[in-house]
Amino acid sequence: MKKSAQKARIRTFIIANWKMNPATHVDAKKLATKSKSLGKGLKKTTLVACPPFPFLSDVVAPHTKGYAYGAQDVSLHASGSHTGDVAASQIVSLKASYVIVGHSERRAKGESDVEVATKVRVALSVGLTPIVCVGERERDDEARYLLTLREQIHASLEGVSPRDFGKIIIAYEPVWAIGGDTANTPDDTVETILFIRKTLMELTSEKTALSIPMLYGGSVDDTNAAGFLAKDEINGLLIGRASRDPKKLARIIEASEKRNSQIKKTKIR
Ligand code: 13P
Repeated sequence: MKKSAQKARIRTFIIANWKMNPATHVDAKKLATKSKSLGKGLKKTTLVACPPFPFLSDVVAPHTKGYAYGAQDVSLHASGSHTGDVAASQIVSLKASYVIVGHSERRAKGESDVEVATKVRVALSVGLTPIVCVGERERDDEARYLLTLREQIHASLEGVSPRDFGKIIIAYEPVWAIGGDTANTPDDTVETILFIRKTLMELTSEKTALSIPMLYGGSVDDTNAAGFLAKDEINGLLIGRASRDPKKLARIIEASEKRNSQIKKTKIR
């Protein structure tokens, strides 16, 4: 095999975004217990539980390769009087490793690309891995959405040092696919992920851009997860509804463990 065609192995990320669920602490504790046990002994997968802030301490568990946890958002500010905010250092103090940044549901509430970029930098500054969400609102036949996506990526990662790009995860979540019953197709997702990688190469080295885990999110469940995970270019999934159903989550993790996950030098147009 030529050197340039060598493949780098990477774990598959299954990120469980609980969003504003479940309704009670009792239910959150049950879901946390199930999630922790699903994360036990995983060989190729890292399950990351991301509950709402009040339930973050429930998902705390010793670090293993198979299980980790994180938050769904982080304050723009490192400290100070910011009622209702949660600082990156507070998230880290629970030994969390990840934080979702720039989810479309926060962007819809007015979060700007500038704020997303600040949050990414704040997260990186304390050693949290930001899971940076990007995605178009709608598709158009002329593929103008790709230009929008490119602008969003540049703006959402503004000021991140090229070296730090190796510490982020990108989640491609087309807004139109979130919370409905139609996911993007795996083939279309691969196309867009290649475009996102190409865009990342404008911001960091080719080697670093190729090392960034690229996830897909939007109406993933136990019936379609394997289709995405059959694609080498998709390094994991960011899951909303199905991640709160332990049986569905178990089937998704099973599909992830069965895959042979690799990042390879894919053709970038
Ligand atoms: P659903 O899986 O419920 O469509 O949500 C996707 C999502 O927004 C994950 O962040």
